[in-house]
Amino acid sequence: MEHPPQRTLSGTSCGVRFASFGAPLEVIELEQSEIPVPTSGQVLVQMEFAPVNPADLNVLEGKYGTLPALPCVPGVEGVGRVVSEGPDLGELAGGLISKRVLLPHGFGSWKRYGVVQASELVLVPEDVPVHQAAMLRINPATALCLLENFVALKPGDWVVQNAANSGVGRSVIQIARARRLRTLNVVRRGGLDKELCGIGADVVLEFGEGLGARIREVTGGVLPRLGLNAVGGESALALAKTLSESGVLVTYGAMGLQPLRIPNGLLIFKDLSFRGFWVSRWYQNASQAERDRLFKKLLNWAAQGILHTPVEAVYPLEEARAAVAHAMRAERSGKVLLQG
Ligand SMILES: NC(=O)c1ccc[n+]([C@@H]2O[C@H](COP(=O)([O-])OP(=O)(O)OC[C@H]3O[C@@H](n4cnc5c(N)ncnc54)[C@H](OP(=O)(O)O)[C@@H]3O)[C@@H](O)[C@H]2O)c1
Repeated sequence: MEHPPQRTLSGTSCGVRFASFGAPLEVIELEQSEIPVPTSGQVLVQMEFAPVNPADLNVLEGKYGTLPALPCVPGVEGVGRVVSEGPDLGELAGGLISKRVLLPHGFGSWKRYGVVQASELVLVPEDVPVHQAAMLRINPATALCLLENFVALKPGDWVVQNAANSGVGRSVIQIARARRLRTLNVVRRGGLDKELCGIGADVVLEFGEGLGARIREVTGGVLPRLGLNAVGGESALALAKTLSESGVLVTYGAMGLQPLRIPNGLLIFKDLSFRGFWVSRWYQNASQAERDRLFKKLLNWAAQGILHTPVEAVYPLEEARAAVAHAMRAERSGKVLLQG
């Protein structure tokens, strides 16, 4: 039986858009546009929260692996509620209104309203804290894949990572703790030990001279087989040097904007492997069953408080410029979110 849309919204609503690549604060602008009407198989979603991630800034700058056609709405992830249903939803019809959902890749989450194919929706149970849901699809998913997809780790094994106080780094710490893995967490500034140990880090080390020796000392000479690199340059090299024979260094970020330099000896005498990871590719290649498994784990952990990413500030969508400026600051204590 055909169901009519439950509630139609009309009028205009606010969103961020950019029409050229460049300095983020110079290229973003607020725009009012017509609230879209969901068509066959679609629902209308009202965005609740969406983070400003480094990848969003890189896209605005035109410095990302893939770039969208312009003009376009930024924002790779977020969470929202279904506010109206379009036609042809089959057995889903009538059951989606008010449901909280993760916004899909390609939605452009820095806007108040958007339409989504109902088949792409990931439902979010109400016991998952809404801020956590807004940040689940990218960083915690990346952390889980980094820990599961490269080296077969067993309880007690060490993992070493840099940018350990980043969103991904914190998720790595929390998931590793849940898996009884031990983490060596390299950060670029002091004063983070208490906070990171409080969420499950085993060891926190400031990047600098003698990193390898300091790691050998705390692990009793046992070397990690997996290294996770979000910085590049000297930091990545230092991480690689701490790995055990046949260890794997996975690069997933380049916060330091410096290329990886790999000495021949690390390949010849230590047989290290250097791999890369991009969560967008993972989503593209994963089966529905693999995606369902990942979301089930992440949503459960978020509901239980096992996964928690701190939020430093929340800005209304209308203050997106201030939010972006805030997200570009160094030494934040958490993420910056936009509120729809
Ligand atoms: N490949 C993928 O699929 C994938 C998925 C998710 C994220 N990422 C990447 O992972 C990285 C972290 O993302 P996030 O959202 O977790 O970041 P975030 O929460 O915004 O935190 C940024 C982190 O980077 C550190 N940092 C900034 N500039 C640095 C530099 N020059 N040298 C060393 N550390 C620096 C910051 O340290 P301070 O606190 O000291 O400022 C902070 O720990 C980004 O590069 C992002 O693009 C990649």
